[in-house]
Amino acid sequence: MRHKPPAGALTQKLHIKTYGCQMNAYDSARMAELLAPLGYGLTEDPGEADLVILNTCHIREKASEKLYSDLGRLHARKRARAALGQPMTLAVGGCVAQAEGDEMRRRAPFVDMIFGPQSFHRLPEMIAKRARGAGTVLETDFPAESKFDRLPEARARPGAGAHAGFVTVQEGCDKFCTFCVVPYTRGAEHSRAANQILAEVRSLASQGVREITLLGQNVNNYRGVGPDGRGWTLARLIRAVADIAGVARIRYVTSYPADMTDDLIAAHGEIPALMPFLHLPVQSGSDRVLAAMSRRHRADDYRRLVDRLRAARPDLALASDFIVGFPGESDADFAATRALVRDIGFASAYSFKYSARPGTPAAALPDQTPEAVKSERLAALQQLIVAQQRAFNERCAGRTFPVLFEREGKRPGQLVGRSPYMQAVYAPAPKSLLGQIAEIRIMAGYDNSLAGESMATA
Ligand code: 5AD
Ligand code: SF4
Repeated sequence: MRHKPPAGALTQKLHIKTYGCQMNAYDSARMAELLAPLGYGLTEDPGEADLVILNTCHIREKASEKLYSDLGRLHARKRARAALGQPMTLAVGGCVAQAEGDEMRRRAPFVDMIFGPQSFHRLPEMIAKRARGAGTVLETDFPAESKFDRLPEARARPGAGAHAGFVTVQEGCDKFCTFCVVPYTRGAEHSRAANQILAEVRSLASQGVREITLLGQNVNNYRGVGPDGRGWTLARLIRAVADIAGVARIRYVTSYPADMTDDLIAAHGEIPALMPFLHLPVQSGSDRVLAAMSRRHRADDYRRLVDRLRAARPDLALASDFIVGFPGESDADFAATRALVRDIGFASAYSFKYSARPGTPAAALPDQTPEAVKSERLAALQQLIVAQQRAFNERCAGRTFPVLFEREGKRPGQLVGRSPYMQAVYAPAPKSLLGQIAEIRIMAGYDNSLAGESMATA
């Protein structure tokens, strides 16, 4: 059901800027849905917004620096609007708000509302509180009630990506990798009940969503209560999602290697809708560094896990995350990371310079890596990864992929869609294929995309 505001009541403009991960993108969409019945309609232009929400990310330093520079700009806009008698309410949500709420209140006193990722369902109350002149409203506790019980039903967003939907199934993390802020900002692991998730997927599917991505910080450790009263694993949940009419593709992100259970590995071989592409962050190829990161796997455990996954699903491709320049990382450690990348052969990967996050154990380690070394290693690793990605894309030439068409391309008569491996596929195709999956022969592979030829509808 769409939550429709009363006719003519879209009197307020809302701008949301999202930083960071897909979980934040999902949260931002839910905030918009939550505020629509209060009369808030979305705008792309923060200058004309009555309410601006910055949904922040704390995972690396750059993300929070960017936030404070954006806040400075918004402060100027807010003042300019106030001079014209048009107040702007400025809200900061997400993980920086959670981690630095008190400091933010001091550093940016012009921010009206500060709330963590577990409290955004309280936005309507926060707005009312603020309207009563309560000063900066701070909501960064982990509330006892689940926000999921208080959110309106998800709906597909029109425009790009309307045929691919995200559903949060699990939040938080108890792993405490020594570099990571997520356990502090998103809190302890919590899985949603399977029924709630399946209802959300059914609703998305009935609106034409063909591809469902199940989201969680530790999604493969999903342990929600099932309709049978038992704890369901992610594999069990995926089987139930695959049975929902209209769902053609399933993905899940992000996974922790040590939580890849036998039933989940088997699911990759048994459920055709489960896409043969897995994002499985390894972070480093050095056992010494992995131990210092408190990762619960060694490099060879990862190699063996990938072997088992590929045995279950031979066309499986992998993506990963890497951190270079973790405190104490030597040349030999970094060489071990490159060796792992060569051994596995990734279809794509993200790599980051280690960024000391306040309050995390690794930030206090004595042997921090100099910035120049981090930059050098990042460039070397990215060169290797880009080459692997290009080689993977080039190898796709000549194959035929089911492509989910999502939007029109820049050229006339061209559509853009996604392959099973998340590659962007550009192909000449009629508009009637938007939202459909079609078998497309791949003509060529480039660094970041594939060129396809149109064929029959699947
Ligand atoms: N510094 C650099 N990269 C980090 N990541 C998480 N924390 C840090 C940090 N402190 C990276 C990891 C993770 C991805 C989402 O972000 O690679 O998998
Ligand atoms: Fe962070 Fe992922 Fe480690 Fe959890 S498992 S602490 S989210 S890197």
